[in-house]
Amino acid sequence: MSEPLLRVEKLSVEFKKFKALTDVDLCVNEGEVRVVIGPNGAGKSTLMDLITGKTKPTSGKVYFRGEDITGKEPYVIAEKYKIGRKFQNPNIFNMMTVYENIEVALSGYNTVFKSLFFRRTPETRAKIDTVLEKIKLSGKRDIIASSLSHGERQWLEIGMVIAQDPALIILDEPTAGMTAAETYKTGEMIKELLAEHTVIVVEHDMDFVKQVAQIVTVLDQGQLLAEGTFEEIEKDPRVIQVYLKDDAEQ
Ligand SMILES: Nc1ncnc2c1ncn2[C@@H]1O[C@H](COP(=O)(O)OP(=O)(O)OP(=O)(O)O)[C@@H](O)[C@H]1O
Ligand SMILES: [Mg+2]
Repeated sequence: MSEPLLRVEKLSVEFKKFKALTDVDLCVNEGEVRVVIGPNGAGKSTLMDLITGKTKPTSGKVYFRGEDITGKEPYVIAEKYKIGRKFQNPNIFNMMTVYENIEVALSGYNTVFKSLFFRRTPETRAKIDTVLEKIKLSGKRDIIASSLSHGERQWLEIGMVIAQDPALIILDEPTAGMTAAETYKTGEMIKELLAEHTVIVVEHDMDFVKQVAQIVTVLDQGQLLAEGTFEEIEKDPRVIQVYLKDDAEQ
C-alpha cells in the first residue's frame, strides 16, 4: 500500500500529568476529507496542535509524505510541508477588504524580499479571483472584512488558508456559530476543495459530518474510540454511548 499523506503513530501528550492524548493513530490519504468528532475535551484540537507543531508530543510520531515531522516548528510545518490551519476564531484583517485579505495571505508565504516586491501581477489577480470564487465571496471583494457576516468571515479565513496552496488543510470547527444554510454552504465548499487539497475537519454538527465525511474518526478522552463511514459510526454503540453521556452532563 502506498504511504498516506499524513500518518500519526501512537501520539501522546501529557500536560502536567494529565493525559490529553494517548497512543492515537491516524492515517489520511491524499485527496481525502477526514472528519474528526468527539465530545468536548476529547483531544481533537490538541491532535491538530500536535500535527501543526503548536504543541510537542510526549511520545509518538507524525509523518507527512513519509517524512518524520514530529516536533518541528509551526512555521516549518506550514511553509515547508504546506499544512495550513484555520483556527476556531477567524484571524482576518478587519480593516482591509476581502480582496486585500486574500492578497496578504498570498504574499505572506513568500520570503520577506519577495513580499517587498509583491505586485498585483495578472497571475496574482487571477489567483485571488480563483480563491474568491472558491469561497463564494467574489461579489463581496471590495467589502471591508469587518462588515461581513459571521459565516462570511469564516469563509474568508478558509480562503486565506487556501491562498497558500496547502497540501493539507486543517479546519477546526469551521461551522461554529453558523446558520444551517451557512453550514450547508460550507460543506459544499469543502467538498469542492477536494479536487486540489486534502482536508481534516474537526466538527460537532452531525448534518455537516454526514454531508462531507468519507471516513469519520471519533476521539474520546484522548483516545481513538472508533473509525469508519458515517453510517458505521452512527450506529456504533460505543459512539452512541459517549454522545449520550456527553448530552446527559450538559
Ligand atoms: N495547553 C494545555 N494545557 C493543559 N491542558 C490542556 C492544554 N490543551 C488542552 N488541554 C486539555 O486537554 C483536553 C483536550 O482538549 P482539546 O481542546 O483538545 O479538546 P477538544 O476535543 O478540541 O474539545 P472541544 O470540542 O471543546 O473543542 C482538555 O481537557 C483540555 O483542558
Ligand atoms: Mg477543540
